Amino acid sequence: MKALCWEGVNKLAIEQVPDPRIQNAHDVIVKVRYTVTCGSDLHLLGGYIPAMEAGDVIGHEFMGEIVEVGPEVTKHQVGDRVVVVSFIGCGSCWYCDNDLWSLCDNTNTNPGITQALWGSDPGGIFGYSHAMGGFMGSHAEYVRVPFADNGAFTVPDAVDDLSALFASDGVPTGWMGADLGGVGPGDTVAVWGAGGVGQMAARAAMLLGAEQVIVIDRLPERLAMTASHIGAETLDYSSTDVGAELRERTGGRGPDVCIEAVGQEAHTYGPEYLYDKVKQQLRLENDRPPAIREAIMACRKGGSVFSLGVFAGLADKFPLGALMNKGLTLRGAQQHGQRYLPMLLDRMSRGEISTSHLATHVMSLDEGPHGYDMFKNKEDGCVRAVFRP
Ligand SMILES: NC(=O)c1ccc[n+]([C@@H]2O[C@H](COP(=O)([O-])OP(=O)(O)OC[C@H]3O[C@@H](n4cnc5c(N)ncnc54)[C@H](O)[C@@H]3O)[C@@H](O)[C@H]2O)c1
Ligand SMILES: [Zn+2]
Ligand SMILES: [Zn+2]
Repeated sequence: MKALCWEGVNKLAIEQVPDPRIQNAHDVIVKVRYTVTCGSDLHLLGGYIPAMEAGDVIGHEFMGEIVEVGPEVTKHQVGDRVVVVSFIGCGSCWYCDNDLWSLCDNTNTNPGITQALWGSDPGGIFGYSHAMGGFMGSHAEYVRVPFADNGAFTVPDAVDDLSALFASDGVPTGWMGADLGGVGPGDTVAVWGAGGVGQMAARAAMLLGAEQVIVIDRLPERLAMTASHIGAETLDYSSTDVGAELRERTGGRGPDVCIEAVGQEAHTYGPEYLYDKVKQQLRLENDRPPAIREAIMACRKGGSVFSLGVFAGLADKFPLGALMNKGLTLRGAQQHGQRYLPMLLDRMSRGEISTSHLATHVMSLDEGPHGYDMFKNKEDGCVRAVFRP
């Protein structure tokens, strides 16, 4: 079959790879209808995630049709139209039992690397390096889905294919940031990053009762989209002092909850950017964290900061003093989609969460390398490049 493969830092190519087969009794094979780029893939592309090998199929967000079912799958049959959560959960370890699906103890089949990096290994994810399980990714004609009873969800009739695609990752990630970040009725919430993840976090915060939601970015087309499709306030950090402006808009107090949806390749202006960029390129720090620094500084006393953006290693100039003295709660996680999908698909079918505006560019999988160029460089207003295998 045809697939989009990582061939080295900033190098992608369409290759022929073996068709996936059922390997375990709980697997299904999905024929992919749509698969989409994610900010997380840019970290792979840039070489900031360890243990990628030439020829690895990338991509972790997808929906499609089940074409083969393992003997112990009970919830699905051939022909089901499903969306699949990007993280793989076994459904029977302590973490899955406690709804912490991306921390599954059984699905990272190659746990040594992340154990050495982080002390213990999170769960496996499709198409995201040999450090995260070495699973083949979704930018392909077919994908093997392990533990399909947990990770594949039948799409309700009222949700079309393209909208359903974003339930794989962006929608549950955003929801988790708002939910575990502790957003409650009446809160003021600030979200750094107006990409697919930031927009979905903002929408989730509104649905959880936040009174004021402010999304921060510098790309005018993304800010405009956030205002019109999500209904949040926006703040352009290229022309404003973010901390001062947030204080101004919150009666001097700062946001109750700050959600960072930018990650390790964040951009900023001036010497801070240069400092982080040079250290990152020399591999003296792995992560460029200006947005999370800013979130910690801006958050109200006693508030909470949630890191949805992906970080992989060490970051410099982390404002630990502010965190401690202001009594903040800092949390982060890879998404626990299995915990939220039934509720979220329901909300999507009622029109409470809409996603298809994120699909600014839909193209054939053959155009994958070009799609990634557009997405990475934010060309032509690209928010997400969607591929049709
Ligand atoms: N936790 C999870 O499970 C999970 C799931 C999906 C994605 N992610 C991560 O979430 C992050 C965002 O993903 P995305 O797909 O929306 O990415 P994206 O690249 O489409 O969007 C990131 C946005 O951040 C903006 N940005 C850059 N620097 C900024 C700064 N200093 N302040 C404010 N905004 C800034 C960019 O202009 C861009 O619009 C990535 O790090 C991605 O890896 C995490
Ligand atoms: Zn993703
Ligand atoms: Zn598990």
